[in-house]
Amino acid sequence: METKLNRRDAIRRMFKITAAITLSAATLPTFISCTPEGKKRIVFFFTGTGNSLWVASQLTDIPLSIPQVMKNLNITYEADEIGIVCPVYRGRVPQMVQRFMREAKLKANYFFGIVTYGSRPTDSTDAWDKLAQENGIHFDYLNCVHMIDNFLPSFDMNQQKEMEKPTEEDLGKVIADLNEHKQWKWPVTEQDREFRAMVVRMRGDHFPAESSRIFVVNRDRCVGCGFCTRVCPRGNWSFGNQGIAVTGDCEKCLACIHNCPQKAITMNEGDRNPDARYRHPKVTLQDIIRSNRQ
Ligand SMILES: Cc1cc2nc3c(=O)[nH]c(=O)nc-3n(C[C@H](O)[C@H](O)[C@H](O)COP(=O)(O)O)c2cc1C
Repeated sequence: METKLNRRDAIRRMFKITAAITLSAATLPTFISCTPEGKKRIVFFFTGTGNSLWVASQLTDIPLSIPQVMKNLNITYEADEIGIVCPVYRGRVPQMVQRFMREAKLKANYFFGIVTYGSRPTDSTDAWDKLAQENGIHFDYLNCVHMIDNFLPSFDMNQQKEMEKPTEEDLGKVIADLNEHKQWKWPVTEQDREFRAMVVRMRGDHFPAESSRIFVVNRDRCVGCGFCTRVCPRGNWSFGNQGIAVTGDCEKCLACIHNCPQKAITMNEGDRNPDARYRHPKVTLQDIIRSNRQ
């Protein structure tokens, strides 16, 4: 027999249904693709300028964006193999990736992590490995792929694009290693640790970073297209009285700067060539928006 619901119960029931759909969406297997031997593999990624997205897309058909996955209440995933691909920022993986390691419940027989870097990953893989272990994840494989360095205060993007980097070779090795489930970790040296410590002494640690102190907007160039509001994985950019404005803690992924079509955003810390910007050639602006939009 049908009983009549009052307004409050109806709202409660609707909330429960919405929550159930959200929770089940986090565990739906539609994103799982198979390796050559038919193993189920999930690859998560974080990206600012597309390098890590491109690498992740070479390892699985549909990589999962960490900024999108982190919107779910329940982050639970299970597969034969789980991998994470992300950039290194001053010798550490991004804050959001660190939070993902703490909050996600991941179950797999084989775990791998790939760091994309521009000049020297220092001791990032070691620190990442330690963080993973503290959260019950045991990496079987940790490697790095050398790519364009998108850190604007130190590098001119036009020069970076001209440089020969062993990206294809590094990635080929990663793919071959993963196919044979190799157990291996990037060797970190004492010099790597000292080098990172020296950089942190000279320039400070990467986090926390207050975004309003990091960026400068050239109001003459800004046309209010709003792409910065859509590519920021933290949703820090918005429209205020004076046009575009930024607040909150920043990942420093530089997605906003590199993806601004007007080149209207620069860095307070310095910008080697304010007219040169970068996004991986195989990655579109829409791909970055899909990955990061909040
Ligand atoms: C704030 C910041 C710090 C960085 N620190 C390092 C670093 O310590 N070592 C390094 O080799 N590359 C460093 N990079 C370069 C990026 O790790 C590299 O370009 C990466 O592939 C970018 O990945 P994405 O395109 O997926 O964002 C840094 C980049 C940024 C923006």
